[in-house]
Amino acid sequence: MSQPLPTVALIGAGSSGIAVAKALHERGVPFDCFEASDRVGGNWVFGNRNGMSAAYRDLHINTSRDRMEYSDFPMPKDYPDYPHHSQIASYFDAYVDHFGFRDRIRFETKIERVARRDGGVYEVTTDDGVTLEYDVVLVANGHHWDPRWPEPAFEGADTFEGEQLHAHAYVDNSIFEGRNAVILGMGNSAMDIAVESSYVANDTYLAARRGAWIVPKYLLGRPSDQLKNDPRVPFKVRQWFIHKLIQSQVGDLTRYGLPKPDHKFGEAHPTVSGRILDRIQHGRITPKPNIRRLDGRFVEFEDGSRVEADVVVYCTGYKITFPFFDEGFISAPDNHIELFRRVFHPALPDLMFIGLLQPLGAIMPLAEAQGQWLADYLKGEYALPPRAELEADVRADQEAMRKRYVASKRHTIQVDFDDYLFELDKERRAGAQRARERGFALPVPARAARPDEAVAA
Ligand SMILES: Cc1cc2nc3c(=O)[nH]c(=O)nc-3n(C[C@H](O)[C@H](O)[C@H](O)COP(=O)(O)OP(=O)(O)OC[C@H]3O[C@@H](n4cnc5c(N)ncnc54)[C@H](O)[C@@H]3O)c2cc1C
Ligand SMILES: NC(=O)c1ccc[n+]([C@@H]2O[C@H](COP(=O)([O-])OP(=O)(O)OC[C@H]3O[C@@H](n4cnc5c(N)ncnc54)[C@H](OP(=O)(O)O)[C@@H]3O)[C@@H](O)[C@H]2O)c1
Repeated sequence: MSQPLPTVALIGAGSSGIAVAKALHERGVPFDCFEASDRVGGNWVFGNRNGMSAAYRDLHINTSRDRMEYSDFPMPKDYPDYPHHSQIASYFDAYVDHFGFRDRIRFETKIERVARRDGGVYEVTTDDGVTLEYDVVLVANGHHWDPRWPEPAFEGADTFEGEQLHAHAYVDNSIFEGRNAVILGMGNSAMDIAVESSYVANDTYLAARRGAWIVPKYLLGRPSDQLKNDPRVPFKVRQWFIHKLIQSQVGDLTRYGLPKPDHKFGEAHPTVSGRILDRIQHGRITPKPNIRRLDGRFVEFEDGSRVEADVVVYCTGYKITFPFFDEGFISAPDNHIELFRRVFHPALPDLMFIGLLQPLGAIMPLAEAQGQWLADYLKGEYALPPRAELEADVRADQEAMRKRYVASKRHTIQVDFDDYLFELDKERRAGAQRARERGFALPVPARAARPDEAVAA
């Protein structure tokens, strides 16, 4: 006799949440997806009424169309290589309708609290005060919505006479018109915002505490992330090749006045920009070292130079946060969170995370693979390795990341796109064999009251 499957609460219907929802829907796993907004797409919905989107008016993706699309739902071929955010948001909407699971999403329902009872079963409380029971919680709440401001704040930030904002609040370049702007950071937000500023500001300064390799949007005539990258070839070999290729395209970055990167390509999250170097060479952006302090209307840099500034934009990244968990239960101090293959909590068989990774490449196909993997697991068709093996894997992964990447809060959940998919495929097959040996036992029993039965009002 077949056992009932566990019930699942899925938090978030961004591009990660919908990829998992589709897998659960197709594979017959009972779930409810809770979405704070009135529509799917999360970050890609400009002006999203959830207040969490970082999209600006002219945002285009920096991972190419063919890399970003889900494997069984291509983006329209009349989309450009790097579509606008509005096209990306429409694509996610179309995905949900194509696979027919919109009715499984509870829109405008924010999860306020998730608590696990001793021994299992989660109490999931929505913002309208209803608590529901689920056997499993899947977290897909995104990791680019909680701004990380400089820590500690720069001296004089509290008395600076100009405007200060985080990239998350940036909408369009009208805030720079006729003004002097300082943009801080060397990530993709800093590149885009400095370039946008450079068209309308009096002066744009790009301040950085560390150099970055600038990856052009095209290499060898193709979108750069579509270059062949075979995970069976040792990483060092692939790194050498791409490093040389990028060097040959952009040359010596110090010629542009930018700091020399203190690492090789692939040892930091890639900074992709087709325009930043041009705008510097057109004299419209002036590179600067890090900010030392703010002083009245002035910004002083580490080299002692000072500029009068009307606006400072901190493109200093994001925090990974889960406001619905008690901090003592689950949190990610300094963005650290240890998960098996970025999905499974090592100690809890019923709590998983989707899209909580930073690929060199796009997130969506990885979230899609995670969704299929989770469906296997919840149906007893995949079994995790024994706990000691799983923990050893997590430790090895953390160590490899620490060794490879520049030490920074932005490098705590890094993966290589092709390698991640390759390894996940291997792990799914190994886990399928373990599941067979265990007689396809369900890893999480169905014990929660049915989701439509409110536990407490
Ligand atoms: C400016 C910018 C540009 C980017 N460009 C790219 C790119 O080109 N390519 C790429 O691969 N990645 C890019 N990223 C990374 C980005 O994280 C992903 O593109 C994508 O948005 C991740 O999807 P997600 O579903 O994990 O998170 P999100 O898109 O953030 O979606 C999370 C969803 O969860 C919902 N939610 C959150 N909390 C709750 C709650 N408590 N209750 C109910 N619902 C909740 C939100 O409303 C939202 O809909 C970019 C990020 C930024 C900031
Ligand atoms: N067009 C696009 O598709 C697009 C546009 C924007 C963003 N994104 C994506 O959105 C995500 C977030 O990007 P992001 O650029 O906002 O953040 P990010 O990648 O985390 O970069 C933050 C930058 O700020 C610097 N920084 C942090 N704290 C600092 C401090 N106190 N003083 C000086 N510098 C500091 C970091 O330097 P260190 O390296 O030294 O830590 C880094 O250069 C990424 O996945 C990115 O690819 C994509």
